[in-house]
Amino acid sequence: MTPSPWLLALGLYLTLSSQISAEESLGRPFILSAVEDAKRMVDEAYKYSREESLARVQKRSASASDVLRLLKQPARDTRSAVRAADYMENTLRLIQERAHHAHKRSLNATDLLTADELSTIARLTGCAARVQPPSCRTTPLINKYRTATSVCNNRKNPRLGASNTPFTRWLPAQYEDGVSQPKGWDRSRLYNGFLLPLVREVSNRILSTPNEGIESDRNYTHLVTLFGQWNDHDLTFTPTSPSIRSFSNGINCDDSCEQADPCFPIRIPDGDPRFGSNSDQCIPLFRSAPACGTGNTGHIFGANNVREQINSLTAFLDVGQVYGSEDAQARDLRNLTNDEGLLRINQRFTDNGRELLPFSTMPVNNMCHPPEDHQHLWLGRGALLRGR
Ligand SMILES: *[C@@H]1O[C@H](CO)[C@@H](O)[C@H](O)[C@H]1NC(C)=O
Ligand SMILES: *[C@@H]1O[C@H](CO)[C@@H](O)[C@H](O)[C@H]1NC(C)=O
Ligand SMILES: *[C@@H]1O[C@H](CO)[C@@H](O)[C@H](O)[C@H]1NC(C)=O
Repeated sequence: MTPSPWLLALGLYLTLSSQISAEESLGRPFILSAVEDAKRMVDEAYKYSREESLARVQKRSASASDVLRLLKQPARDTRSAVRAADYMENTLRLIQERAHHAHKRSLNATDLLTADELSTIARLTGCAARVQPPSCRTTPLINKYRTATSVCNNRKNPRLGASNTPFTRWLPAQYEDGVSQPKGWDRSRLYNGFLLPLVREVSNRILSTPNEGIESDRNYTHLVTLFGQWNDHDLTFTPTSPSIRSFSNGINCDDSCEQADPCFPIRIPDGDPRFGSNSDQCIPLFRSAPACGTGNTGHIFGANNVREQINSLTAFLDVGQVYGSEDAQARDLRNLTNDEGLLRINQRFTDNGRELLPFSTMPVNNMCHPPEDHQHLWLGRGALLRGR
């Protein structure tokens, strides 16, 4: 058997980093407690966010963005992928902070860790499992049917185009720190001698269209837009972290203009036509979740040292928005009471004898408890969005 590229990369890294001497190493208890603390912090932020969003919807005080966020919550395997990456990133952040505190100088977390320690962290956070190539030998009927996840559809590169893997890049990333910080994170930073304008200012000046500027298109119907959207929903969906407050200081992203991962609020310029005198407030924005083993830790996995984002869908036009892009979801959508292999249909409602989509089994919808007369509307929309 030839060694996998991942193992080769790890081997290479082991050789390179064996230069870290034993006395510089932080020690196992230090590492393990950082992993535990990071996991607890992330789990608490996820739990808080779920309960808070649920409470808002139940109190009917949910804004449109709360509802949208609930429907777009990463679920199932996407949630595991996002969670593992959040664990790993926060473990390294804690190690860096604590080492900085102890040594009174700024240190690069990955320089402080031996390869063994890094792979322990990757294993404990669940990141290693997401990056290691899967074995395709146990996939049933692999030569006959394609998998819903696209894992093992390409036998030479089993994760090629698979769901919940990082997006590919056609152009190099442009981060402010070269690794993971978005441009504009440091507001005092100059580009070509200039401060970057507020993004909202750019939207207002360049992208705004007054109502009188809108003209009916004589050649194309609205269906063109929907067709584009439909195809996009077959191909890409970029999850954000499920957390609505920052990991490091517990700040609620909706209430604050402070930037702290995953909050990256959009500042409102003075005299904004939409917000007027509320220009001291911010539009909440959440960063897309990082992919495991990218950014500062990319080199352990033989990947680039820039933060990458996750595509929770397969890269193929395979109508995944109907059939599902994950195994559990694909199974859930099927009628398993017989061998006909058909999709499930709604058991409570029909459209004049014609079948409707089934109600979603996603916890998100159970959380909503909409009034009975709106229920089918709500859940029907949830089921439609589920494929995203
Ligand atoms: C941290 O160290 C690693 C390994 O030496 C390097 O690849 C990475 O770019 C460094 N990151 C930063 C932010 O300096
Ligand atoms: C609509 O079609 C006509 C005739 O083909 C063409 O001249 C015109 O530029 C088109 N308009 C738009 C907005 O595409
Ligand atoms: C499963 O298929 C049977 C037979 O076609 C049908 O009667 C039943 O309603 C289906 N159940 C679901 C959940 O779709």
